[in-house]
Amino acid sequence: MSATRYDVIGIGNAIVDVLSHSDEEFLQRQKMPKGSMSLIDEKRAEAIYNAMGPVVEVSGGSAANTIAGVAMLGGTAAFVGKVKNDELGHTFARDIRASSVAYSTPMAESGPSTARCYILVTPDGQRTMNTYLGAAQDLTVDDISVDEIRSAKVLYLEGYLWDPKRAKEAFVKAAGVAHDNGRTVALTLSDAFCVDRYRKEFLGLIRNKTVDLLFANETELKSLYETGDFDAAVEALRQDVSIAVVTRSEDGAMVVTRDMTETVPAFPVERVVDSTGAGDLFAAGFLYGFAKGLPHVDSLRLGALCAAEVISHMGARPERNLRDLANENGLL
Ligand SMILES: Nc1ncnc2c1ncn2[C@@H]1O[C@H](COP(=O)(O)OP(=O)(O)OP(=O)(O)O)[C@@H](O)[C@H]1O
Ligand SMILES: [Mg+2]
Repeated sequence: MSATRYDVIGIGNAIVDVLSHSDEEFLQRQKMPKGSMSLIDEKRAEAIYNAMGPVVEVSGGSAANTIAGVAMLGGTAAFVGKVKNDELGHTFARDIRASSVAYSTPMAESGPSTARCYILVTPDGQRTMNTYLGAAQDLTVDDISVDEIRSAKVLYLEGYLWDPKRAKEAFVKAAGVAHDNGRTVALTLSDAFCVDRYRKEFLGLIRNKTVDLLFANETELKSLYETGDFDAAVEALRQDVSIAVVTRSEDGAMVVTRDMTETVPAFPVERVVDSTGAGDLFAAGFLYGFAKGLPHVDSLRLGALCAAEVISHMGARPERNLRDLANENGLL
């Protein structure tokens, strides 16, 4: 095995989040399925933006949030994702580099603008997302650097990459390079509707061992196996993948392998302000621990801590120094 330069490299849709508070009626009027991610076109994006209350803009993107979290914990990390050479594209690039993440995907010079996700946060802290993929549509296999992929211990991919037209080719190429070099390939299922769109392909990737480490929340897992029975889904998962991490919101999380299950409670939070990024930051904590060779249960605890930080404020990028936080809580 060649030397590693990164603990984790992530590939995902590069997105800037546009967040605002909203009430339940707004979601109903706009026909937005609460708690999920819907894909929208530019016209709808404009209509939503005009109807939203005051907004805050924060860099986002599921895998990008995770990778930023890994770097904030002190891991070495890189990200691959497409933005356009426009104002939001520069915001995204600046923010991810400010988190000490290596980011060198060339910006698109023409075509659609940088991706945005319009996020409505209801008083219960739940987030509902509407994504205009824009320039993220144009990620291709040419954006994958073999040298970068093979120098990372873990390759982390988001299921959302199945939505852009050609990103899945990049995904498959990167996974091949990682495995040729003895690396671990991790995938997050991203969203229950996303699982619904690509169930057969995701199951294929898991069963043909393209994926070694799977992240899912409870609804994504149930959607994957088309069952309402959580325990049955976990047993199916146990047979299909080497390691799975399943998050269950306030009920905490578990790691499942062929012959063991370990669970941790959620880390207590005073108030869930905005759940955006809970799953992403949970993955960050787990991946950091995994890359450093910590016992799985300690990695789960780090995940729970990082998730608790990000749901205590608006936006999916941590506001507190995660490394300090982990130190204060005796986890690092
Ligand atoms: N209400 C909550 N109270 C405490 N911790 C929570 C709560 N919701 C989420 N968490 C933490 O975040 C982790 C991930 O949450 P969840 O299972 O909801 O992921 P998710 O649905 O992928 O989140 P999202 O997609 O909104 O980022 C949980 O395992 C837990 O540690
Ligand atoms: Mg999620």
